[in-house]
Amino acid sequence: MPMTPEILDTIAQHHGTPVYVYDLDRVTAQYHQFRNAFELEEFQIRYAMKANYNPSILRTLRKLGAGIDAVSPGDVIMARACGFHPDQIIYTANNITDDEMIQVQAMGVLMNIGSLSRLEKFGRAFPGSRVCLRFNPDVVDGAHDHIRTGGALTKFGILLEDAPRAADIAARYDLTVVGIHEHTGSGLQSQDSIPRAMAGIFSIARPHLFPHLEFLDFGGGFKVPYAPEEEPFDMVELGRQVTEAFTAFCQGYGRKLNLIFEPGKYLTAQAGVLLTRVNTIKENRDRIICGTDSGFPQLIRPLLYQAYHEIENLTHPEGKPTTCDVCGNICESGDVFARDRAIPEIREGDLLAVKNAGAYCHAMGGVYNLRAMPPEVVVDGDEYFLSRKGLSPEELVQQICDQCPDFETS
Ligand code: LLP
Repeated sequence: MPMTPEILDTIAQHHGTPVYVYDLDRVTAQYHQFRNAFELEEFQIRYAMKANYNPSILRTLRKLGAGIDAVSPGDVIMARACGFHPDQIIYTANNITDDEMIQVQAMGVLMNIGSLSRLEKFGRAFPGSRVCLRFNPDVVDGAHDHIRTGGALTKFGILLEDAPRAADIAARYDLTVVGIHEHTGSGLQSQDSIPRAMAGIFSIARPHLFPHLEFLDFGGGFKVPYAPEEEPFDMVELGRQVTEAFTAFCQGYGRKLNLIFEPGKYLTAQAGVLLTRVNTIKENRDRIICGTDSGFPQLIRPLLYQAYHEIENLTHPEGKPTTCDVCGNICESGDVFARDRAIPEIREGDLLAVKNAGAYCHAMGGVYNLRAMPPEVVVDGDEYFLSRKGLSPEELVQQICDQCPDFETS
């Protein structure tokens, strides 16, 4: 069942607004499209679950054969609860504590380490273990400053020139470096950044430094279109280039390794929408303000990254395009989903779909102003169902009070 305006309208009637809706068929289609771009048998997708940890999505991806890129103990526990085996999970948190390291290691998950300091501590605590090393690819790309992870300004990864030092530390503690990892950024703007980052990793993934490699992991960042004029990556061409470069690398290394990518957005961004209803139209001189029943704590990307999310008027798609500001219900002037956007004329009561809301939207949500996060509804084949419920204001407040040992109702 595709997410047609009729279905979305029915879901909004049934579950109220705001509500997130995810299309599992789209997740599946994105997975296959990604997988099929690479003509390699030794290939794996580790879904970056930080993008969207909804259990229905996680289970769908597990059944398709994906593994997991986890970044916190909570991620690992959730992935385990959704049926992923520890050896399908890689742990790529940064700036972790010793306690966290011990907890995750005890769960049997492979640790991906991005600093020499942590590598020392890991070696001391777990000599003789398997480990993955994260390097800084020194390629700077990403849709916004906040999400570029390579280059001089970033806190992520070991410098490529420090590879011999990392190898020395590993040898000192009898660690087996089974994987090398990099992640360049999210929403990469240039398709070329991926082969460039790979070349940097190839330069240090040498048998004399790391003789026991089983895989190379090149992170995520695959671009999907958000604004209408944006083009997605040409996955067929990229797949061809990557496959060729990786095959040549493996020949040089002396045996076949696994190629791993960790897409988040590519798998889920386009599979989700946030449905919100317009309750107030205000004309501020020549500016039309459409007030909705959601807000930035529920979808923060426009505020945080100046991200563009297409907004569809599901109720009056045939209306005359009219420039307006689509705003939320939060007490800050930055609470704007779209400014100066031409949308078929919006009236009070109209249902809007904020598109590409399947990645880093619900997952980054909060309850600022004490408005609970919206429920999550999943469309699966011919049916839809409530995947995760929202909380009523009473339940939200109760949950908070329950966390306050000193709280007394007076
Ligand atoms: N692997 C690693 C190590 C990562 O840090 C990330 C994203 C990914 C994979 C997945 O990247 P993706 O394929 O989703 O671009 N909240 C931001 C994005 C933050 C990305 C953080 N790391 C946004 O909404 O644009």
